[in-house]
Amino acid sequence: MVVKERRTFLGVCLGALFAAGAGAIAYPVFRYLAPRREIGNKGKVEIPESELTAGSAKYFEYQGKAAVLIRKKSGALLALSAVCTHLGCVVQWQKENEQFLCPCHAGLFTADGTVISGPPPKPLEKISFVIANGIIIVG
Ligand code: FES
Repeated sequence: MVVKERRTFLGVCLGALFAAGAGAIAYPVFRYLAPRREIGNKGKVEIPESELTAGSAKYFEYQGKAAVLIRKKSGALLALSAVCTHLGCVVQWQKENEQFLCPCHAGLFTADGTVISGPPPKPLEKISFVIANGIIIVG
């Protein structure tokens, strides 16, 4: 009697362990394959203009990918994809010389995304934005 209950208990434990393992494998695969849903406001991202001082960059997620807003020292604002066009690393803003450097293979881009040097085959993608009441609305 005790042996049968012990076997039942072990069976339930093994079943739960198997289900948890299958879920741990299946969920990341599902998240990778399933398209992301836009959350509210048709996928637009709103960032207060006050968060961007001269020469600064603000990274954010746009349509599931890294993007960046920069305010050049001249005051000009730009919104770009921060995904390197070579192999997809996230480019880093170099405030002192107003360029983007890709940490993976040293791709170098101007502040407006034009390739200066390195392996990237195309410029960084520009993203449209508007400014309304001190809010930068990207997308
Ligand atoms: S991924 Fe950016 S230079 Fe290779």
